[in-house]
Amino acid sequence: MSETPLASSSPSTAPPTGTPPARGVFLRTPIPGPEAQKIIARDQQYLMTVTKASPIVAASGSGVWITDVDGNRLLDFAAGISVLNVGHSHPDVVRAIRDQAGVLQHFAGTDFYYDLQVRLAEKLTKITPGTFAKKIFFTNSGTESAEAALKIARWNRRRPITVGLLGAFHGRSMGSLSMTTSKPVQRARYAPFVNGGHHIPAPTCYRCPYKLEYPSCDLYCAKILKELYFETSIPPDDVAAFISEAVMGEGGYVIPPKGWHQVIKSTLDEHGILFIDDEVQSGMGRTGKWFAIEHTGVVPDILTMAKAVGGGVPMGAVAMRADLDLTTGAHSNTFGGNLLASAASLATIGVMERENLLQNATTQGGYLLQRLRELQSRHDEIGDVRGLGLMVATEFVTDRTTKEPAVKFRDQVLVEAYRRGLILLGCGRSSIRYIPPLIVRREEIDEAVEIVDAAISAAHAGA
Ligand SMILES: Cc1ncc(COP(=O)(O)O)c(C=O)c1O
Repeated sequence: MSETPLASSSPSTAPPTGTPPARGVFLRTPIPGPEAQKIIARDQQYLMTVTKASPIVAASGSGVWITDVDGNRLLDFAAGISVLNVGHSHPDVVRAIRDQAGVLQHFAGTDFYYDLQVRLAEKLTKITPGTFAKKIFFTNSGTESAEAALKIARWNRRRPITVGLLGAFHGRSMGSLSMTTSKPVQRARYAPFVNGGHHIPAPTCYRCPYKLEYPSCDLYCAKILKELYFETSIPPDDVAAFISEAVMGEGGYVIPPKGWHQVIKSTLDEHGILFIDDEVQSGMGRTGKWFAIEHTGVVPDILTMAKAVGGGVPMGAVAMRADLDLTTGAHSNTFGGNLLASAASLATIGVMERENLLQNATTQGGYLLQRLRELQSRHDEIGDVRGLGLMVATEFVTDRTTKEPAVKFRDQVLVEAYRRGLILLGCGRSSIRYIPPLIVRREEIDEAVEIVDAAISAAHAGA
């Protein structure tokens, strides 16, 4: 997403002063305030340009709330890009990290042994889909998980091709980038990519690439792999793996139609092709199940995770069928499963279970969808509302019939939202994602939806 203007005025008349109320958004200054502006200016001087979305400078976080460096309290519906599933600074996670830091921080779990890592690995083999024996490889990020998964597939199958989806995001290091196709800017000037990457159109029902309609389409978007690609450009017996996100994240929160995964998986099985399920964004309870693929009934051979698995500490993992294990030295790293990350991860999973957050994601996600659909009935710019659990998006269009993406309008809604104290992120060409921590409560959803409502009206008035 393009950078948003750094200086903006608050929509309210005069900023409130004095003691903030116990709950809710509280703005002392326009966003960004004076302290934030100073840090942003220094950031621009010293940090490489990356993907900055909004001029929010966080000082502290608690639950679904962020306090910025000017003392403004904002509602966080971005959750560190789907990382803080148990909320900011959950006391159990904080305690686990602190306790572990005082005992042992690092000893290289790839070359030596830790009990904590084994316990976490065992837990992950239990919560990932599939009743067969599994093994875990720990990484430090989503892209590293994708790299590992692609290498595991290639090493096992000794085949050169990987197939993925157009619009997918799997990361930015060269292997994962070779399968990432969500925006040209992510790939421009980086070619040549790792050999053997092929892509087919994504199952995007709202914008069906074949102009068909579900269910009369008979899942053409899945059958095309076998009926067209494997008959023409891609020799199936040269394919090591197929990789896809269970719900496409960065590409626009695209949920494949019912049955798509079954058709794809059976095509893959015919040729011994491994199915890699990328759950970096959709996993760890975000959709109301531990992993979004569980909504489909299909079981992947390899599953990648990161983001929320570390509860705020850099961490990723690959879960795979145990029979796909490598030989010593074929792959490894230094920090994978680092003790602070493993402690944070085990504590995070514990919080998810004790606080019943899968259920909360389902309940509050359903409520959020319903509230956003109400907005859709009043704002013509919302072309589509979709989601699973608390992985929810609205897609903005200039016209509901032509479905022309309303890119500038979406960008303005994001600006109007943060000006009112709601932190959001875009996705796809013209969508906004709503991904609060899974501890979110109904009243916080109500507050967020009211801000979105006002932000859309303001964007409309200014358009
Ligand atoms: C589905 C998916 N895969 C992989 C990645 C890459 O993760 P990271 O940014 O931790 O490298 C992302 C990041 O947004 C993602 O959403």
